[in-house]
Formats: sequence, structure tokens, C-alpha cells
Amino acid sequence: MKAVLCTRAGGIDDLEIGDVPDPVAAPGEVVVRIAAVGLNFFDTLIIAGKYQYKPAFPFSPGAEFAGVVESAGSGVTGFTAGERVMGYARYGAARERLAIAADHLIKLPDELDFERAAGLCITYGTSYYALKNRAGLRPGESLAVLGASGGVGIAAVELGRLMGARVIACASSDDKLAFAKRHGADATVNYASADLRNALKELGGEHGIDVIYDPVGGAYAEAALRSIAWQGRFLVVGFAAGDIPKLPLNLVLLKSCDVRGVFWGSWTERRPNEHRANMSEIVQWAAQGKLSGHIHAIYPLAEAGRALKDIAARRVMGKAVLRA
Ligand SMILES: NC(=O)c1ccc[n+]([C@@H]2O[C@H](COP(=O)([O-])OP(=O)(O)OC[C@H]3O[C@@H](n4cnc5c(N)ncnc54)[C@H](OP(=O)(O)O)[C@@H]3O)[C@@H](O)[C@H]2O)c1
Repeated sequence: MKAVLCTRAGGIDDLEIGDVPDPVAAPGEVVVRIAAVGLNFFDTLIIAGKYQYKPAFPFSPGAEFAGVVESAGSGVTGFTAGERVMGYARYGAARERLAIAADHLIKLPDELDFERAAGLCITYGTSYYALKNRAGLRPGESLAVLGASGGVGIAAVELGRLMGARVIACASSDDKLAFAKRHGADATVNYASADLRNALKELGGEHGIDVIYDPVGGAYAEAALRSIAWQGRFLVVGFAAGDIPKLPLNLVLLKSCDVRGVFWGSWTERRPNEHRANMSEIVQWAAQGKLSGHIHAIYPLAEAGRALKDIAARRVMGKAVLRA
């Protein structure tokens, strides 16, 4: 079968398309014929050897997927050949078939196509965990989302709106902000042309911003924190800008606010039942059209490099998806 292969830590151009043996389901595993793979910013870090997970070479990138069950190993109950499923795999999904533990799979409703389903798990899973389980976002609160047109960003905009928050989308271009508005943002800040701190202070008024969702980091983190409300929650989601910010703790003291870490992948392993409950809500909302699962573009498996370059160059709004 065909697979996108990372044979050494390197750049996107070092990825290869190769032939590898078909997988066989071990006990407790299912072999899925992959239909579509969702790519994420962190795939660019994994192939460069700069992420928390450092898989042995050769491996395939691609951490989330949708497809059809082909076969099941011993001890697997609840999945039969031909069923449509989606799931989270950390890495390894950018190939035609994948053997994966059955308890990592979620069944797909008929209304959801493979491409949209492939991109739902990580972005909406992370943003829902962040807003619901970490921030305890309440209806009527204000929520500022940085990198609001990206994968986790647009998911946070849509979920924040669905949870009844007033959503302020922050991004680097007017096109990206118009996109975020179409997906439910109430107000916008272009942080490439306006001062983020002043703009958020104005939009937050005297009260300030209740919840700040930050997958970007760099200089934006402190600028955003300065606008936070008394007892606000600042969610540390990622560092797409490259620099890991250091926040002055006097601001945390003066606002009596919380800086809360968000490590969704680890939480899914520590709290599998809560993760499943969140995913089942997300899948239902997506099937009902309440969450868009917006796809920026679909690329053939052989063009995984082009897709990852679009992500690295900040060109993708929503998800980049591979069709296997
Ligand atoms: N904590 C968790 O559990 C978790 C889970 C998933 C992802 N993440 C992290 O969340 C971050 C975003 O992931 P994603 O998949 O949503 O990425 P994405 O779709 O590529 O979006 C990232 C956004 O960050 C902004 N950005 C600012 N500087 C950038 C730069 N130098 N390069 C690329 N983007 C830049 C871009 O928006 P503007 O152009 O508008 O600035 C872009 O839309 C990553 O750091 C990822 O590792 C964390």
C-alpha cells in the first residue's frame, strides 16, 4: 500500500511516498481503510523532530482520519467490516491502511462525509476540551480567540458561539477575519494592522475579556493577557508563531486570573470516557450542521508536502485534508 513516509527528522521536502506492507490487526486492533486524513500544524513539527511525540523512523504523519473498517483482531467487539469510522492516531494515518486500537475509533453518522469527519477530532476536540473542561466558559462571557481562522482557532470560534459566548476573533488579515465572522464571530481584531492590547481593551470594556484562547503565542500572548477580566482564564493552547512566551506574573496577580494549560492529547488518554462524551457531542453537532468542519482544500496523498507547506505558510483557513 502507498504511504507518506518521514524517514529522518527534516523538512517537508524530505517526505517521500513509498510502498509499505499492509498492516494486520493485532488483538484489540482494527484495520481501517483510510479515506481521508486531517493534517494539523503540529505535523510540521513532528516531521522536524520538534514535537512532544518523536516516532521511530520511518513513520507517516497524519494524526486524524476517517475511513472504513476492513478487519478486526481478536477480542474486538462493536466494530464490523464495512462500518464508517473516524479517529485520532497521534501520527501514522497518511497511508492507505492503518491498524489502530479499536477504542480509539468513533462511529460516523451517515450525514458526515469522510473529508469533513477526518478533520473534526483534533481541532474541535481540543477547542471543546479547552473551552468546556479547562475554562468552564459560560453563556454571556466574552471569548477572544487568537489565530481565529486556523484549525483549532475556527473550531474555538464556532464552539464559543454555540456555548453562548460573545466571540472576538483575532487574526492577521481581513480575509481571515471575514471568514471567522461567517463562522460566528461577533467582533474582530486584525493584529497585523492594529495593536492587539488596545483593541481587546476597547472591546472588553471596563470588565475585560473573560476567556482568552491562545494557539499562537509569541508577542500576542502578553498583549492579550493585559486585556483579561478579573478572574479571567487564559488558555495556553500552542505556539504557532514559534516563540514560547514568558508571561509577567504580576499581571496574573493583579487580575486574579488563571493561566490554564491545554494538552488535549494527554487528556484523551487520562480521561477516555470524558473525551468520548465530548466527541459524541461534536460529531452530533457536525452532523446537524451546527459545526462546519470547514475544509480549506483537499489534496491527494502524494501531495501531502504541498498541503503541509500551505499550513506552514499560514495560507490554510480551517482544515487541510488528504484523500487517500
Ligand atoms: N494544546 C493542544 O492540545 C493542541 C492541540 C492541537 C493543536 N495545538 C497547537 O495549536 C496551534 C495551532 O494549530 P492548528 O493546527 O490550528 O494550526 P493552523 O491551522 O496552522 O493555525 C495556526 C494559526 O496561527 C497563526 N500563526 C501565527 N504565526 C504563525 C506562524 N509563524 N506560522 C503558522 N501560523 C501562525 C495563523 O493565523 P494568523 O495568520 O491569523 O496569525 C494560523 O491560522 C499549534 O501550535 C498546535 O501545535 C495544540
